[in-house]
Amino acid sequence: MAAGIDDIAIYIPGLYLDAADFAAARGLDPVKLQKGLGVSQMAIVDANQDPACLAANACHRIMERNGLSPADIGRLYVSTESSFDESKAMNSYVVGMLEQVYGQGTFEHCGGVETKFACVSGSYALYDNTNWIRAGESDGKSALVVVSDIAKYDLGSSGEMTQGAGAVAMLLNDEPRLLAFDPRVTATSIKDEYDFYRPFGKETPIVHGQYSNLLYMIQVRKALELYKENVARTGLIKIGPEETILDHMDYINMHLPYSNMGKKALAYLVRHEWRQLPRWSAILEAVGMEEPVPGEGGGTIEAVLADGEFMARDHEFTRSFSQTEQFRQIYESKLASSLVASSMIGNLYTASLYLGFRSSLEFEFKKGADLAGKRVGFGSYGSGSSAMVFSGVIQPGYADVVRGMDLEAEIGPRRRLTWGEYEKLHENVLDPSEAAGPQGTGFVLVDVKTESESRGERRYAFVE
Ligand code: COA
Repeated sequence: MAAGIDDIAIYIPGLYLDAADFAAARGLDPVKLQKGLGVSQMAIVDANQDPACLAANACHRIMERNGLSPADIGRLYVSTESSFDESKAMNSYVVGMLEQVYGQGTFEHCGGVETKFACVSGSYALYDNTNWIRAGESDGKSALVVVSDIAKYDLGSSGEMTQGAGAVAMLLNDEPRLLAFDPRVTATSIKDEYDFYRPFGKETPIVHGQYSNLLYMIQVRKALELYKENVARTGLIKIGPEETILDHMDYINMHLPYSNMGKKALAYLVRHEWRQLPRWSAILEAVGMEEPVPGEGGGTIEAVLADGEFMARDHEFTRSFSQTEQFRQIYESKLASSLVASSMIGNLYTASLYLGFRSSLEFEFKKGADLAGKRVGFGSYGSGSSAMVFSGVIQPGYADVVRGMDLEAEIGPRRRLTWGEYEKLHENVLDPSEAAGPQGTGFVLVDVKTESESRGERRYAFVE
């Protein structure tokens, strides 16, 4: 039985910090953000928004657009790493908000949980719900998987230039118009790590950024190795003697903590895949240098990062490799369209891979590409750490959905924050009633109770 993504809706807050304003305030070269990281704007939540209302707004959009009622939805999962409650699941908050519109008790039948594993948990939620459908448990109902996050780092930290916020809702069913997941090939890797984590009570993460970037690429490569074994075992893809698995993926979507990380990760995977092939000698000739290898003691990530000589040479190699005609071709044709939305919105943690997929569909379609039957590979990563590699095939009915995609219209009107407004929002000094707008329709946070017996209870309203 086919199972996969039928439609995707996004909800992005209407406030943003411009990369040029950020660079000026922090005394940075604006080119570092725009070209070095691929960050142009970062979406910032208003004083009356939290990750639950971002998620509810994305759900409401996808339900309205598809004329769905709560009776059509059998499961509602929310994946996030911005949770504000250690016990009550975020999907419960979302159900509460949706029932303000669809009626009290209308989602009573609808099970689900909040999932957590940094940025990868949405991929696990998609996998579990796809299997719920494949197993015939859905009984004709759809599942909603919503990935929602606020990527917020300490003021003045190196992560601050990679912030963002938003939610992506995905509708899953057994006749998906967009993408049917390939069965029995999904591959995972997992390792206990402290590259990025957020202890109880802390609003912002503790981040070892360069360590995390390298770990991300290593973990995805490990999952890719397992994915290759899975496609060989199941016979899904036959890889010819001078081919790699990447030749069989028409599009590749990577986790995007910032837009350029997708390109870095792709270059890492392509190098790894091409190294054993006859084509590699032509690449080395074009690059003009041998591929560097880590020095003595290069077995750990710490040792690799501490090996300044290797890092400098590897950086030089990657830069030249990324400029080769062969890499540019794979980058432009398989990845580039997925990066457009990220540079306009910023990091969405769990949602960034799926915002990238949404971006790829829209901008490839606008180029005039026929996407039907194309295989999409996904490289998902969550710190702490786990990676997931999986794939799917774009379905014949995709154009009915993708034709209507318009990123700017779906983001809606936005307002550029002043630096002073940004700092106030970041430090949470504003009450929800002091929201800066633009105030469109949708769910907003009204207040959070502070009395001891009801501390933390949140009230939301739907603004018509
Ligand atoms: N002009 C153009 N490019 C510039 C530049 C300039 N003036 N200054 C730096 N750059 C480039 C660098 O070469 C680098 O590119 P590369 O990655 O292709 O080498 C890029 O800009 C970033 O610069 P770098 O010095 O590596 O930045 P940093 O160490 O200050 O911080 C991060 C970058 C990403 C590590 C940091 O922002 C971070 O930790 N972000 C959070 C990451 C995260 O969320 N991880 C979660 C797990 S995936």
